[in-house]
Amino acid sequence: MVRMVPVLLSLLLLLDPAVPQETQDGHYSLTYIYTGLSKLVEDIPQFQALGSLNDLQFFRYNSKDRKSQPVGLWRQVEGMEDWKQDSQLQKAREDIFMETLNDIVEYYNDSNGSHNLHGRFGCEIENNRSSGSFWKYYYDGKDYIEFNKEIPAWVALDPAAQNTKQKWEAEPVYVQRAKAYLEEECPATLRKYLKYSKNILDRQDPPSVVVTSHQAPGEKKKLKCLAYDFYPGKIDVHWTRDGKVQEPELRGEVLHNENGTYQSWVVVAVPPQDTAPYSCHVQHSSLAQPLVVPGEAR
Ligand SMILES: *[C@@H]1O[C@H](CO)[C@@H](O)[C@H](O)[C@H]1NC(C)=O
Ligand SMILES: *[C@@H]1O[C@H](CO)[C@@H](O)[C@H](O)[C@H]1NC(C)=O
Ligand SMILES: *[C@@H]1O[C@H](CO)[C@@H](O)[C@H](O)[C@H]1NC(C)=O
Ligand SMILES: *[C@@H]1O[C@H](CO)[C@@H](O)[C@H](O)[C@H]1NC(C)=O
Repeated sequence: MVRMVPVLLSLLLLLDPAVPQETQDGHYSLTYIYTGLSKLVEDIPQFQALGSLNDLQFFRYNSKDRKSQPVGLWRQVEGMEDWKQDSQLQKAREDIFMETLNDIVEYYNDSNGSHNLHGRFGCEIENNRSSGSFWKYYYDGKDYIEFNKEIPAWVALDPAAQNTKQKWEAEPVYVQRAKAYLEEECPATLRKYLKYSKNILDRQDPPSVVVTSHQAPGEKKKLKCLAYDFYPGKIDVHWTRDGKVQEPELRGEVLHNENGTYQSWVVVAVPPQDTAPYSCHVQHSSLAQPLVVPGEAR
């Protein structure tokens, strides 16, 4: 269960290194993430879907209200998607997804246990040309089945997945449809969404920077440099001592999906009696030159 927490914390999507973080010129991705639970767990919906454009979540759906809804900055976007129609599509996908999960649980004769299925699929374009796609499922955190569009076929990565493969390939047209989804439908959807989303994904929000100092009794003084409210997420924040780059003691990063901005911080420990000058350096694509903030600023 622990591994699912980042998926469920939809408001504070912690950075997953597998998600493309960099908005290089003309590089965009559309990613759907589905999660199903074999057992009801308190208030968590048994099925959840979310979609991201690059690193920003734009919609969510779950088995409780069965409504696709735009989230974050996409709440303000009009006309990008017919959310009522999308709700029906997501409901159909939910049914297939949960059926697959139940099949696996049955295969392993463990209907008493608590299990989860996780699916990730989508596509990428670069300079308006298709540049990649992916479609893969994970059962209890382990690789389960993956679509290979070159063969094309579903590739079983787990003994139970042979059954799923048989089901999903029962008619040759199913495989052709999966391939067409990744190669045609998904990029077409991404292009359509970009018409409404480029201004969000291409924006350059410069970082604000604050430096704070903290000292607990009996410990080294800590200097924290926080850059916030910036986009895109790629940034370089580091400390120097007397002009030389210092290894940080702690480094962190958060994406606030609601307003589509990042925060990033770096902490250095200053030895007692060290009087050398410390400075925080921040470099970001929105800045003509790095921001430099002295460490002793109060
Ligand atoms: C599940 O149970 C069936 C029937 O009892 C048995 O044939 C099968 O081998 C079991 N499957 C696993 C994965 O243990
Ligand atoms: C599943 O739970 C039921 C009822 O609690 C129990 O009778 C059964 O033995 C359990 N099965 C397994 C495989 O643990
Ligand atoms: C991008 O590609 C699509 C499909 O190939 C095409 O219809 C569209 O006109 C292209 N857009 C640009 C800006 O070139
Ligand atoms: C974005 O959201 C975060 C977290 O709620 C907040 O700290 C930050 O000030 C917000 N930034 C803007 C520009 O609204």
